[in-house]
Amino acid sequence: MAESASAVALSGVRRIYHVGEPVYALDGVDLEIPRGSYTAIMGPSGSGKSTLMNLVGCLDTPTEGEVVVGGREVTGLDERERTRLRGEEVGFVFQTFNLMPRLSALENVALPGLFRGEDRATRRERAAALLERVGLAGRGDHLPNELSGGQRQRVAIARALVNDPALLLADEPTGNLDTDTGRNVLDLFDELHAAGNTVVMVTHEPHVAERAERIVHLLDGRIERIESVDAGDATGTERDATDAEGDATGTEGKD
Ligand SMILES: Nc1ncnc2c1ncn2[C@@H]1O[C@H](COP(=O)(O)OP(=O)(O)OP(=O)(O)O)[C@@H](O)[C@H]1O
Ligand SMILES: [Mg+2]
Repeated sequence: MAESASAVALSGVRRIYHVGEPVYALDGVDLEIPRGSYTAIMGPSGSGKSTLMNLVGCLDTPTEGEVVVGGREVTGLDERERTRLRGEEVGFVFQTFNLMPRLSALENVALPGLFRGEDRATRRERAAALLERVGLAGRGDHLPNELSGGQRQRVAIARALVNDPALLLADEPTGNLDTDTGRNVLDLFDELHAAGNTVVMVTHEPHVAERAERIVHLLDGRIERIESVDAGDATGTERDATDAEGDATGTEGKD
């Protein structure tokens, strides 16, 4: 990435969809995401979270305003340059996973390595290691439709992490995961963050959001407020104890 203190900077961003009545998915957003920071995005369904992630991930361009990613203004780039920026710098966990249906789990995870020009053996090795990290060691040969929803989500997460992305964007990464698997995934995000990379994660769950350093609350396409998370809260044992209690009661009936 080009030298710049911000991983991402949005100014005056509007994204208006025209389907009959115009929809102001984002309606004037200014947001600076420092390099190496960990940000959670929260907000009701339809508040613009995925729209924001798509803009930051260079998958979409704003109707108005400026989006700067890694020091580069995204709207000024052509499609090829944007694809390249994305491939080199960004790991994206989509809300809908977006796995390649004809590629196996292992091949899906190995795919981003192509952007780095890695050889096939290296890519497969890294992919296999990451699949193991997300608890899918035995599922490398499965096609996406041969996996459960939570397993697909973990393949998508492994794929996003395989290039050690400078900027990880994860849209509801733990939405389909049980508490233990979700916690493993969040530990992987922590590692990436601790190594100096930038993490932005959308979540509906407050205890997941508290893993971040600050929480951006969206409402109706605008930033309602930005909350900083007290480090003590985020890593304290108290929260873990509460979680464990919740698990015990939550699964009691099923086991
Ligand atoms: N491609 C599109 N065309 C038209 N309208 C869209 C499109 N994508 C999103 N919208 C609208 O923009 C608004 C914001 O959508 P967005 O997907 O960003 O919400 P979200 O906060 O991610 O919600 P959720 O929590 O349900 O995922 C919604 O009102 C949605 O209907
Ligand atoms: Mg969404």
